[in-house]
Amino acid sequence: MTVAAQPFATHQRCAKCSTLYPDTSPAPKCVACGGLLEIVLAPPPLKGAELRALFAQRRADGSDMGSGVWRYREIVHPSAGEHVVSHPEGNTPLLARPRVSRWAGVEGLLLKHEGHNPTGSFKDRGMTVGVTQARRIGARAVACASTGNTSASLAAYAAQAGLQALVFVPAGQVALGKLAQSLAYGARTLLVRGDFDACLALVQQASERLGIYLLNSINPFRVEGQKTIALEVLEQLGWDSPDWLVLPAGNLGNTAAFGKAVREAFDLGLISKVPRIAAVQAEGASPFAQSFRTHFATRYTVKAETIATAIKIGDPASFDRAVDAIRYSNGVVTSVTDDEILDAKAVIDAAGVGCEPASAASVAGARRLVREGVIGPSDRVVAVLTGHVLKDPGALLRYHQEMSPAPPYANPPVEIDASIEAVERVLEG
Ligand code: F0G
Repeated sequence: MTVAAQPFATHQRCAKCSTLYPDTSPAPKCVACGGLLEIVLAPPPLKGAELRALFAQRRADGSDMGSGVWRYREIVHPSAGEHVVSHPEGNTPLLARPRVSRWAGVEGLLLKHEGHNPTGSFKDRGMTVGVTQARRIGARAVACASTGNTSASLAAYAAQAGLQALVFVPAGQVALGKLAQSLAYGARTLLVRGDFDACLALVQQASERLGIYLLNSINPFRVEGQKTIALEVLEQLGWDSPDWLVLPAGNLGNTAAFGKAVREAFDLGLISKVPRIAAVQAEGASPFAQSFRTHFATRYTVKAETIATAIKIGDPASFDRAVDAIRYSNGVVTSVTDDEILDAKAVIDAAGVGCEPASAASVAGARRLVREGVIGPSDRVVAVLTGHVLKDPGALLRYHQEMSPAPPYANPPVEIDASIEAVERVLEG
């Protein structure tokens, strides 16, 4: 369904061929060319300082329902109306932890902990908007392919909204905590014999044939919600942009969302400087980083392999829009090894913060970029921790208990007899 251009109403636009769709169209991609859709927002009624004041006011008077997403509704989903499905979510902390800063080699490092969201990952920010949209357009069922966090989040929000949820996850490759959540929240969980990329292809077919509303991060409303990670960071810093926003990157929905957020924040006069975005991939799943090394002249796909199962993705769906995000923000893309990820995670965990393996890629990436002289040691850097420490207990226990030789930060448990002497021996030893 192609409609005439309505520049003053929020609408969807194909990023490839510029075909316009109303913001109620359920098509997951451009019907004309198969390109990804993006939301073009109606110009908000306020700008700059007045818009900043409105956001602050909502937080103060509670009219945001306690949500760090819906507080920004004019620049997230202005036509959500009474359909909002909010847990609430967002309002996550920005943490300074000297031990982690020292390890990364950058004094002004802050950790934006998205694991504090209701289902333990940043996905809740996109999902509250995606499920709100599903309800707004009268969808009966929703679906996604996932490495585990999107499915956990979809399951929870669909349950709240009373929608049937179908999730496609790669069999045997999803962290325990995430799979458990999807079952607990009542999603129909399909363990697909294939990798994430196969799951994504399958769910797209299923959504087209069966008319199920697709809620992967190719869904432009999900991207709108995920913008609020960056918006909230900027607000927490008094709208004084950091030099860098560093985040782990897999399917690249979040990188795309960060790019859109900082561009819009700049255009609306919320900030006066655009922070540089650094996207970090796991070395065994780094098609975007490889492509960056060619200045994006070549697009790669890989057979993904990494301990960080959340970002084990070989053919990222939001590739093009993530390229825009990196180019616009004068950003960079890098990759880190599984060992670097695990060491970063152990340092973050031992600082009493904790995160899942993929999240630690951001801190490992910051460290690498400092060593390479890309990030300056006195730069202001915000690294996003995307998921909670309990998401992947399997990886955690392997690191501390099973790996041989023991990794540098291993903290294995000690089995003892039930005697005070045994406790003493441990303390002395
Ligand atoms: N960190 C975590 C913990 C994730 O779960 C994901 C993606 C990412 C980072 C990367 O974000 O894909 O937008 O580049 N997880 C998706 C999922 C793929 O299905 O839960 P991205």
